[in-house]
Amino acid sequence: MRVVHTIAGMKEARHRLRGSVGFVPTMGYLHEGHLELARRSRDENRYTVVSIFVNPTQFGPKEDFAKYPRDTERDLAMLKKEQVNIVFMPSAEEMYPPRYSTWVDLEKVTERLEGTIRPGHFRGVATVVAKLFNIVEPTRAYFGQKDAQQLVVIKKMVADLNMNLEVIAVPTVREPDGLAMSSRNVYLNPQEREAALILSKSLSLARKLWSKGERNADIIRREMTSLIETEPLGTIDYVSVADAETLEELAKIDRPAVVSLAVKIGKTRLIDNIVMAR
Ligand code: PAJ
Repeated sequence: MRVVHTIAGMKEARHRLRGSVGFVPTMGYLHEGHLELARRSRDENRYTVVSIFVNPTQFGPKEDFAKYPRDTERDLAMLKKEQVNIVFMPSAEEMYPPRYSTWVDLEKVTERLEGTIRPGHFRGVATVVAKLFNIVEPTRAYFGQKDAQQLVVIKKMVADLNMNLEVIAVPTVREPDGLAMSSRNVYLNPQEREAALILSKSLSLARKLWSKGERNADIIRREMTSLIETEPLGTIDYVSVADAETLEELAKIDRPAVVSLAVKIGKTRLIDNIVMAR
């Protein structure tokens, strides 16, 4: 496994590879969810490149950029075990030199859900992912369903800008009790860790209602909201039942839908979702 720290080094290493290249962009502090993306890439490509870069431009001024968890040595050991070929770890100074001024800004899909609560977040995500795609030139890139809106945004960017790669969605990896794995779960104290189960529980409730034939999106939103409100440590940012492709809120669930939610547990903001399709 090679660890590359510069953009020029990464481009040079890339151009020596013959055959398909799978790419997994991450912000590090890796868990089983990230490793699942790396395994899918390894299974489907000749080479796998993983990037670790805590991208400053996708964090708001009041968000957790400075205290975002980091543990490079542990990350590298985990990736080596998964037989990753190249780890790309650029510096923020090289990714965003002084007077950096080009941004990838998507309309519509970024204007709801996470976009309303984290203004500028997807501009930072789309910009860094576009830059990483240009540097790594992958055949396929792997993203988690865990960040459903991010996945929609990346797919749209790749289609709109005619980028030459395939975007692959990987199902959410969960803890045995249902909590979606996330680097931010380390912020939870034991009491909050227990309370955080309310996210996956409310999604199970939505799935159950839908399986029984409920197609009124408002009823599903309302039932989920009532359940979450029974958790004293939880504060709802949003509960959404939306078109899986456009993320527009649905009245009636008559097409593939994504049920998503963002809930603060204490000071930690958690997101989760499920897809409901025929
Ligand atoms: P990060 O939060 O590190 O996540 C990297 C990738 O892992 C994303 O595609 C995310 O959806 C996926 N992932 C996270 N938790 C997962 C889980 N429990 N199951 C499956 N996949 C999971 O997302 C980012 O970083 C950044 O925004 C990035 C795309 C790297 C751009 O900076």
